[in-house]
Amino acid sequence: MNEKRLVGEKAVEYVKNGMVVGLGTGSTVYYTIKKLGELVRAGMNIKGIPTSEQTAALAREEGITLTDFNEVESIDIAIDGADEVDADLNLIKGGGGALLREKIIANAASTFIVVADSSKNSVKLGTFPLPVEIVQFGFQMTTRKIIGLGCKPKLRLKDGTPVITDNGNYILDCEFKSIESPAVLEQKLNMIPGVVENGLFVNLAARVISINDGMVSERIR
Ligand code: 5RP
Repeated sequence: MNEKRLVGEKAVEYVKNGMVVGLGTGSTVYYTIKKLGELVRAGMNIKGIPTSEQTAALAREEGITLTDFNEVESIDIAIDGADEVDADLNLIKGGGGALLREKIIANAASTFIVVADSSKNSVKLGTFPLPVEIVQFGFQMTTRKIIGLGCKPKLRLKDGTPVITDNGNYILDCEFKSIESPAVLEQKLNMIPGVVENGLFVNLAARVISINDGMVSERIR
């Protein structure tokens, strides 16, 4: 069973004709975007706002019209994946490095829907190292300050060189083991100069579509 496909395609049921749709990033929402492409080719009229250059390219391939915040003031629905989902539907995101645009779009959406296979469920966040986007200037200092919050951060590398986000920044993957209060940590991280955004998505997800006992299941907040 392809869980990512099942949950990714299920989310499309919430997209209605005429909507502005935030398009997430990753291998689960990939299936959402492919399905939306099918619906668009069958006559559905939507506009997409992509959370990454990678998603923008996929959406264009699928024939989905893209828009941006110059043109629209609000987003009807955003659909995105997650790296970890806790019992209160708080999330860790940013495994794909798109957390900043993902958070801007999730915040701007009237409804934010998360699609997550069963491996993403957790009682308390912290199993997945928390991605934190930081500016390049002074990143050594920013890293030291983040260590002060009680984690082990690792600069994200690809082929031995730092990964650069779509916004021109670095990513630190921070091992916290267990995150007692996601809301408090989210604020503390964002108070550190040099931190652009972190991958804690607190009280944002309205609905999480996942798999339970082999069946698609939905949790709402
Ligand atoms: C990208 C993300 C993704 O939504 C998250 O990493 C989940 O990805 P996938 O659906 O490939 O497991 O936050 O920044």
